[in-house]
This record gives sequence, structure tokens and C-alpha cells, in this order.
Amino acid sequence: MYSTNDIRRAFLDFFGANEHHIAPSAPLVPYNDPTLMFVAAGMVPFKNVFTGLESPPAPRAASSQKCVRAGGKHNDLDNVGYTARHLTFFEMLGNFSFGDYFKERAIELAWNLITKELGLDRDRLLVTVYHTDDQAHQLWRKIAGLPDDRIIRIATKDNFWAAGPDGPCGPCSEIFYDYGPSVAGGPPGSPDEDGDRFVEIWNLVFMQHLQAGDEIVGDLPRPSIDTGMGLERIASVMQGQQNVFEIDTFRTLIEASEALVGAAADEESIASHRVIADHLRSTSFLMADGVLPSNEGRGYVLRRIMRRAMRHAHLLGAKEPLMHRLVPALVTEMGQAYPELVRGQPLITETLEREETRFRQTLEKGLRLLDDATGDMGEGDTLDGETAFKLYDTYGFPYDLTEDALRSRGITVDDAGFESAMARQKAAARAAWKGSGQAADSEVWFDIAEREGATEFTGYTSTTGEGRVVALVKDGAEVDSAKAGDEVIILTNQTPFYGESGGQTGDTGTMSAPSGVKVRVTDTGKPLGRLHTHSAVIETGEVRKGDTLHLDVDVARRDRVRANHSATHLVHAALRNRLGEHVTQKGSLVAEDKLRFDFSHPKPLSDDDIIAIEAEVNAEIRANEAVTTRLMTPDDAVAAGALALFGEKYGDEVRVLSMGRKGGEGRNYSVELCGGTHVRATGDIQLFRIVSESAVSSGVRRIEALTGDAARQWLVCREEALKAAAGALRTNPEDVADRVAALLDERKQLERELAEAKKQLALGGGGIATGPQDETVGEVTFNGQVLHGLDPKDLRGLLDEAKKRIGSGVAAICAVNEGKAAFAAAVTDDLTARFSAVDLVRAGVEVLGGKGGGGRPDMAQGGGPDGSKADDAIAAVRAILARVDA
Ligand code: SER
Repeated sequence: MYSTNDIRRAFLDFFGANEHHIAPSAPLVPYNDPTLMFVAAGMVPFKNVFTGLESPPAPRAASSQKCVRAGGKHNDLDNVGYTARHLTFFEMLGNFSFGDYFKERAIELAWNLITKELGLDRDRLLVTVYHTDDQAHQLWRKIAGLPDDRIIRIATKDNFWAAGPDGPCGPCSEIFYDYGPSVAGGPPGSPDEDGDRFVEIWNLVFMQHLQAGDEIVGDLPRPSIDTGMGLERIASVMQGQQNVFEIDTFRTLIEASEALVGAAADEESIASHRVIADHLRSTSFLMADGVLPSNEGRGYVLRRIMRRAMRHAHLLGAKEPLMHRLVPALVTEMGQAYPELVRGQPLITETLEREETRFRQTLEKGLRLLDDATGDMGEGDTLDGETAFKLYDTYGFPYDLTEDALRSRGITVDDAGFESAMARQKAAARAAWKGSGQAADSEVWFDIAEREGATEFTGYTSTTGEGRVVALVKDGAEVDSAKAGDEVIILTNQTPFYGESGGQTGDTGTMSAPSGVKVRVTDTGKPLGRLHTHSAVIETGEVRKGDTLHLDVDVARRDRVRANHSATHLVHAALRNRLGEHVTQKGSLVAEDKLRFDFSHPKPLSDDDIIAIEAEVNAEIRANEAVTTRLMTPDDAVAAGALALFGEKYGDEVRVLSMGRKGGEGRNYSVELCGGTHVRATGDIQLFRIVSESAVSSGVRRIEALTGDAARQWLVCREEALKAAAGALRTNPEDVADRVAALLDERKQLERELAEAKKQLALGGGGIATGPQDETVGEVTFNGQVLHGLDPKDLRGLLDEAKKRIGSGVAAICAVNEGKAAFAAAVTDDLTARFSAVDLVRAGVEVLGGKGGGGRPDMAQGGGPDGSKADDAIAAVRAILARVDA
């Protein structure tokens, strides 16, 4: 028997041997198509290749593509578990020709694979073609030798395939397998076609046209091929099963759930086991591709699928959370083909367990409410919308879970009533918001959020993608379009641009469209915490609401921001290790060029502290451990040791970032709650350097630091400055400090010598103490001098010398230093009855623009700001002597 894994392998090997490039499965979140919630067909990753926008990886390719059909346009969720074929997760085997081979080769390859390689009985095969496709009809006759009655012409959309309203499309031809007359059902196109006897196994699409809004608007650059064969369906044919849940992969998973609940599936419980097995696959694969449960968008679809499975686990009587315990069986079964499942196993397990534990807290109460409300209802009755809304709002029952719970009893739910209860709640929330007095200019954001819901951030895993314009805001009001030159705020349904929050700066980058639109994004905000607003300048073309734009974050800048953000976490941990647990974050700024971190600590960091902290952070960087993210409730996160900001409001779920090496209790070096974007591994930070440490307020310190190339450049600049200093000092960089210390000593010595010399100069040749400048004013001998550069503290000494030399008389000195003047006068004792040194100084000081002056009648001193009046100050003394004497 061919196992499912064997069939996947055989398919890829066959096309590999036929010169096809084997493309790995693309992630389930389609970044190239904003109209799709999840990849729902093998061709989705190649959509732009068919239309010629992107160049192909090779002329022909083949893949086994993960697909999810739940939420959005392709939604099989409601049927899963109750039909023989519906799955929310499946693998699509496909071969693609990008303008290489066309119909003939495609039919030949398909026929050879299923009849020769897989050995299906050709008598059990029949095909359909689009009613006008004579060529395909002919080719089936020629290549497969099928008689006309087994080549059925179909005139409906069933045989014209399109990925969506916009994009490549073309007529198709489907291959069916006949399970034989024991199974009810008719061939395709017959009234009984919905029966299970004839099952479509492979769809060959002859991609030729391009459609927009469901209308054919042109042809593809070259006719191409897209085929899709559901792996689980071909496996059921190969394994002789009519129900996909009977194939080996599902048997393994169902056996695992049977073992966990301790009972083999019976007729009543089998649907629940099937739901669990299918939902385990879709939820695990979605999480492996970065989708995590939330209350909006893709995350909510994921949560809905999980909760649906969890109700079925409860129905099976599971007393404990069940889903996470099935993950090992899934990984064993599919991990080899999809290594992301192995990598994601811890995250998937933890998330499932947490979700189920949490949901079980309200599940039973909700089910009781549901029982009370529907106790006397029966087949054909309708549950009121109010109750369905209460189940949703209070007990966390997604709408489709309530539907699912009532399905077996034939009870439906009043959809309109549910919607109106929901609308009423939104209106009440808005009224409360208006009453809260928040800024009126945010009203436009409220309008948009209410109409469009949250805009989805896809930038944790990608920096590029496509988004549909859901709103344009110009000068505070919504507009329908914006043209070249306009400055507008653009909102798209999804975006890889990070909106400024949590201290991390908003992303910048570009938006574009093949029509020639070019937009520069200068900043991204996050009003109301759930909208992403791109501040943009339209450079060319026109942007209209509803347009699809290609979004490109400035990756180099984002990488710098990431490095700075992750370094902030590492330095936080290093500060706590070095300084103590009292260190808590008080604020942070994560920008492109630097990071800033404010924290509580009572005193400045010493140089040793800074060196030790830097060394510790750089050691973690060099260890280059992968950075991991988990989603948890805030309480669980704190219990797991995550640092949370006191007083910060966290939602139901928080992202927990773990980075650095594992230490005691297996805990990583840093564990923090954080919504920001981070490096993949700490080595991406490259280098960490603290460049300043200062006080912000009492008890709060701030460090600023650099990472990566900015840190390297900073060090280079420092080195260059040091080299320049060494050059000027004519020494080596290592000796600069000693050399400067020696120079400073030398300078002190020189200053001392200079002061002494000046003093000597003043005392000596031509100076005040030696007399040649003595003059006689009236009968009094007077010596008055202006001395530049004389230290004021030498004035008294000099004047004492002068008094001694003169014997009887008056001396005055004005010492000018850096424009200012010190002024002192001395009167020999025999003359103090006639002149007071204090009066003389006051007169001089006044001229110098100063005030006062003090001392004794024989010696006084003062000063003034205007040194340029020094001569006048001396003259003022002279004038007093002349006047008194006269
Ligand atoms: N795109 C087609 C389908 O999904 C064939 O791969 O059916």
C-alpha cells in the first residue's frame, strides 16, 4: 500500500525526473495576495509568475503546497467532520508550466503519473473538459485513449478555474475516479454528481487569461499550466478508502486521540475524532507559519478552529486539555516533509495547551447556557441571536462553534439577530469612548476601526507583502483617492510596516503598484492600538481606496531598529544582574540610530559597571542563540519569569520574547513581554556599546547605546580622535594619557614659575618696588602702576615692598587679568591721618565699574569688571592726592 508520505514523494520524484524544479511549500499566509486569508491552492505562490509580474523560479515547477480552507472566501470549516472529503488543511500536489509546455504535455504527464507510476486502473478513470475546449477533448482521446462517453463536456464554472476575482484563469479539465456501482452517485454533470461514487482527484488548469472583477480582461503573456491534486484524496483512492479520514495519516492521528480519551471511536464519536484530527493539522501548520491565536483577522480564524476542536474534545469526555498531547503524533507523521512543524513543535504545544486550558474555563458554563436556551427546541428551530451573542461575548464561543454545537439537533442560529446584537455592542463602545473625552481628531480612526476592524500586522515574519487600501486620510478626513504630490495617511488591510509603539519607532519604506504608483512612507503609527497608519507622500500615480499595493519596508533601517530593540532587552537583563533586582525599566526609545534605556537606580554607574554590563551583553551577542517568541496570557508570562512593565496595560495575550543563553531553571538570559520586532538570533546585533550615562530625574538613570555598524563607527571615530591626539603629542595612542598627565604637571610648574617671574618683574627692573616711576604729587611720593597678568594675591606683598622702599608715600597697583581688574592701594603709616587707603581704593574701583573695596587705612583692596580703565583708576588716586594736598 502506498502511504500518504510515499505518494507525495512519488509525485515530486516523477516531476523532478521530468525536469521540474521542486519548489518547497510556501507559508500558509500569502504575502503576495491581500485578498486571500490563507493559501488555498498550489498556484497561489505563483500567481504573479503567471501574470508576468515576477520571473519564474524555472520554466516548470512542482510542489506539495500546504493549503488551508477556513475563513475568508474558501471556507470548508463548517463541513469538516461531517462529510467524506472536506478538510480545513490539505496538501495540494501540483505541477506548473510558466509558458513552457501546455495542454498536450500536461495531459500526458498527468495520465502517465496516475496510470503508470501510481498504477490506477484506467477503466475507473474519466475526465471532464470545458464545453468549448475541443482541443482538450481530442488530446484525452489521443493520449489516454478514453472513449467519448468518458470525456464529459461541462459548461459551468466547474470547468473554468480562477484563483479569485482578479488574476490568472482558464478552462480546466478534471480527472475523476469511479469507486464503482456499490457507492451512490452519478458522473460529473449528471443530477447525482454530488454522490460519493465519482470523486475528482486532479484538476488541470490551462491558464490563458487574466480576469479583473470576474471579467476576462486579457491574455496571460504565455499559455501556462497549473494543476492541483489533493494529496489526501489521491491517498484515499490509492488506499481503497472512500472517506479521506480513513487514510493512514488520519488513522494515526485518530488512534492517538482514541488512546488519549481511552475509548475507540464509535458511530457517535467518530465525527468528533475527525474534527480534532483535521483541526490539529490546520492549527499546528498555521502556528508553524507564524499565525497565533487572537481576536482579529487570521488569528481569530485560528482560534475559531481551535475552539471548535476543543469543544469536540470535551464532547469526547476529555477531562484535561487534549489537543497539545496529539502534537507528537502529528510531528511524527508529517515532520519529515515539513520541518517547520518540528521547529514549531514547542510553540504549537504550548499555545494549544494554554488555549484549551483557558477555553475550558468558560466552555462548560457556555454549554449549560446553550442547553438551557435550547432545551425544548427540536429539528428546524432557531436559536435567538442574543443568546448566540452572549455565548460569543461572555463565553468565548465563536459563532460557528455555536452553530456546530446545534448542528446534530437540526437547530440553526439567527444570524441577523447575532449581527444586530454585535452592532449594538459596538455602538455602546463608541458612545463610551466619546464620553471619555479623548481627542476629537482620533474620531476618524474610530470610524475606520469600526468599519474595517483592526489592520493586520504581518511584519513579525516578513518585511514585504501586499495590502488592500481600506482608507485614505487627508488633513484629518477620509478621501477616496490621492494623487501625485499629496501627503496622506494610507491604511491597508494588512501590512508588514511596524506602527510606532512600545518605544519602537515606526517603519519607513515604499508602496507601489504595477500601474506606476509610487509612494514614499515616512512613518507608521498605530492609533487605537489596532490600526496601522502609513504617513505617505504619493510620488507618482494615483492611489484609490480598494487598490492593491505592494508594500516594502526599508529593510536595512528595520534591521538596525531590530538590533537596537533586542539590545535593549539584553542590557535590561545585564543591568539587573550587575546592579540588582531593583532595576526596572522606566522608559525606552528604540530608534534606527541608537537606543535609550531609562531605569530605576539611585546613583551613577561607575566605569567598572559600564564595562561589565557591556561585556555581558556582548557575550550574549557572540553566543548567537536564536530569539524565540511565545504567546501567553500576561499571568502565565509573569509566572514564566517574564519581565513586565508595572502599570502597563496588557491585552489578553502577550508576546513573550526570550533571548540569550539558558541559565538556571532553563530560563533564557532575558525573558520579556514585548510587541516589538527583534533579531532572529542575538548575533545579528553584532556589537553593543554604551555611549552615555546620565540622570533623568532623582532615582532614574539613562543610558544611550549603539549597536552594529553604528557602534563600530563610533569606535572608529574615537580611535581616530585618539590617534590625532597622539600625533599632536608626538606619542603613541597608548601613551597619550601619561603624556597628557606629564604635560599638565609641566604646565602647573610653568604657571608657578611664570607668576613668580611676573612678581619679580614687578618688583625688579622698572617695577613698583624699585622706584623709577615714583612721582611727586603735591608733597607726597606716589607710585601707581598697571600690571598685566599679575596674580591679585600678590598685590599686598608688592605694596608692602613699595611702602618700605618709599618710606613715606602712597602706592597703588591695578592688576589686569582677562579684562578684569584687581585694585589695591597702600599708605605709609605717617600719612594715614591724611589719606585712607580704603578711600583711594574705592575711587579706583568706581572707575573700574566695580563697587566697594575694603581693608584698613594703610592697605585696602577691591576690583572691577572693566580692566580697560586701569590707567584711569590710577589717575583717580592721583587726583585725590593732588586735591587733598592742594
Ligand atoms: N488551481 C487549481 C485548483 O486549485 C489547480 O491547481 O484546483
